[in-house]
Amino acid sequence: MLERAPFGIEALDRMIGGGVVKGSATVVEGAPGTGKTTLGMQFIVNGIEKFQEPGLILTFEEFPSQYYHDALNFGWDLKKYEESGMLKIIFSDPSTVASEVEELGGGLETLIDEMGIKRCLVDSLTHFEYAAEESDSLREMEFDFITSLKREGITSLLLRENSNLLGDTSSLSQAPFIADNYFILRYVEIDSAISKAILVLKMRGSQHAKDIRQFHIAKGGIQIMEKFVGRQGVMSGSPVKTDADTFVEAFSAFGKRKGK
Ligand SMILES: Nc1ncnc2c1ncn2[C@@H]1O[C@H](COP(=O)(O)OP(=O)(O)OP(=O)(O)O)[C@@H](O)[C@H]1O
Ligand SMILES: [Mg+2]
Repeated sequence: MLERAPFGIEALDRMIGGGVVKGSATVVEGAPGTGKTTLGMQFIVNGIEKFQEPGLILTFEEFPSQYYHDALNFGWDLKKYEESGMLKIIFSDPSTVASEVEELGGGLETLIDEMGIKRCLVDSLTHFEYAAEESDSLREMEFDFITSLKREGITSLLLRENSNLLGDTSSLSQAPFIADNYFILRYVEIDSAISKAILVLKMRGSQHAKDIRQFHIAKGGIQIMEKFVGRQGVMSGSPVKTDADTFVEAFSAFGKRKGK
C-alpha cells in the first residue's frame, strides 16, 4: 500500500482513498477566489497539527502581512508555526522565480533537509508563467521544479489560476500533465446562487471519486458537502436538474396542489 498524506479534511480524504500519495505532486486549479489558497494552507496547517509534517510555503503574493492575516482569519497562526520550526514561508517575486528553482539544488535543499520538510505549497505556479520568457523554458522550469520536489520526497500542492476551465487553450503550462494529481475548484450556479465545487480529474495510480462535490469556505476552512444529486451539466457551470428529478418535483407539486 502506498503511504498517504491526508488533507485532514475528512470528506475530501475519503474521495481520494485517504489522501494524496506521499511524495506526489498535485496541481489545484481554479478561478480567482475559489479557495485555492485556503485549501493549500489547510493542507500545510493540518500537516503540522495533525500529522507532524513540517511544511514549506513558497508564495509570490505581494503582501506577506496580508498572507498571515488571511490565515489568521481561519485561526491558523502561521507565525507561530514558523517560530516553532514546523513551517517556513518564502515570499518571492516572479523575477526571481527562475533562480529560486535552480536553488532547489542549493540553499533551499539544505533548508528542506534541516527542517525535515514533508509538505510544500506553491502559491501559485501561475507566476512561473510570468517569469518564463517562452513556452519551452516554462515547461523546463515546471518540470525541473516539480521533479526536484519529488526527488526530495516532498508532497506538494501547486496552485494554478484559471478562470476558463473548459476550452482553456491559452495556457502554455504543462503542469497538469507533469503532476501526479489534478484537482479543480470551480464556481457553479445552483438555483440562481453561486456555489463552489471540487472535482478530482486525475490521480496517478489511484482510484478516486469521479463526482463533483460542493464545498463551503467557513471559519475553519474548507468543508466538503454532498454530491450534486440529480443535477446534470455541473461541469458547464450551470447545472440543470435531470429529467427524473424534474418529474419527481413536478409530481410532488401536483400532489401538494391536490391537497395531499
Ligand atoms: N474567514 C472566512 N470565512 C469564510 N469564507 C472566507 C473567509 N475568508 C475567505 N473566505 C472566502 O474565501 C474566498 C477566497 O479564498 P482564497 O483566497 O483561498 O481563494 P483563491 O482561489 O486563492 O483566490 P485567488 O485566485 O485570488 O488567489 C473568498 O472569496 C471568500 O469567499
Ligand atoms: Mg490565492
